Amino acid sequence: MKTIGVFDSGVGGLSVLRALLTEIPEAQFVYVADSAFAPYGERSAQAVVNRSRRIAAHLRQHHAVDALVVACNTATAMAVDELRRIYPHLPIVGVEPALKTAAALSRTGHIGVLATRGTLDSVRFAQLRSRVEDSAPRIHFSCQPCDGLADAIERADPTTTQRLCERYLQAVQALKDPTHRIDTLVLGCTHYPFAAPVLRQLCGSGVALVETGLPVARRTRAVLGIDAAAVHRGPVAPFRLQLLSTGDPAALTLAAQRWLCTSATAVRLVC
Ligand code: DGL
Repeated sequence: MKTIGVFDSGVGGLSVLRALLTEIPEAQFVYVADSAFAPYGERSAQAVVNRSRRIAAHLRQHHAVDALVVACNTATAMAVDELRRIYPHLPIVGVEPALKTAAALSRTGHIGVLATRGTLDSVRFAQLRSRVEDSAPRIHFSCQPCDGLADAIERADPTTTQRLCERYLQAVQALKDPTHRIDTLVLGCTHYPFAAPVLRQLCGSGVALVETGLPVARRTRAVLGIDAAAVHRGPVAPFRLQLLSTGDPAALTLAAQRWLCTSATAVRLVC
């Protein structure tokens, strides 16, 4: 059985892990929530590179992972090149805001992008954006850094989550100006799918929300050379999943129960 390491700054990467567990039933997973160092999105690139290196080293040395999924847009933007340089033979899959998918879906050409400041300020994001804009000139992206939103989701704080979603959606003019009304909203941080019910309610049914869990899971299966298998739905057997947190393991256990339908219990990781 293949072992796949997955990490994020906190609980957000569970939105990617959820798709991985379903799409790759023949693998086991070790998930690291770096909650003691969250949020990554408002940290320096060097700090995120250092954390990503440490976690990758732990997963490689102590869990002999066969592949690594960087289930964090911010860490992908800042650290995935460095991780690939350090582990040239390890398949490493990153997560990027789904601009291309959104461009293909949008009818009006107006697309909102919610992401962390770190992701939106990165060179990698600028390159991705110009690639998509060059190939689809009718597309206009309104990009909004969402300071505090990942943190509110991390702390399971519904009041702040609601308030920040309202503020940031207004900022991308999702609700105000009919000539620039977006019809597609990219959730460019793996924490945001857990705020999808709030965002959906605020945007209304005319706006498609685009997230990345499923394409990342399919890509991971492909890079590992695992054939398309019957997808697995239902409770996740605890032996398939180890949950580690550099912060409060009880918070990760609760989030996993709620979002992954598993009885796995998280343990503390010092790394
Ligand atoms: N979940 C992460 C992402 O996809 C990072 C959120 C944060 O720690 O700021 O960017």
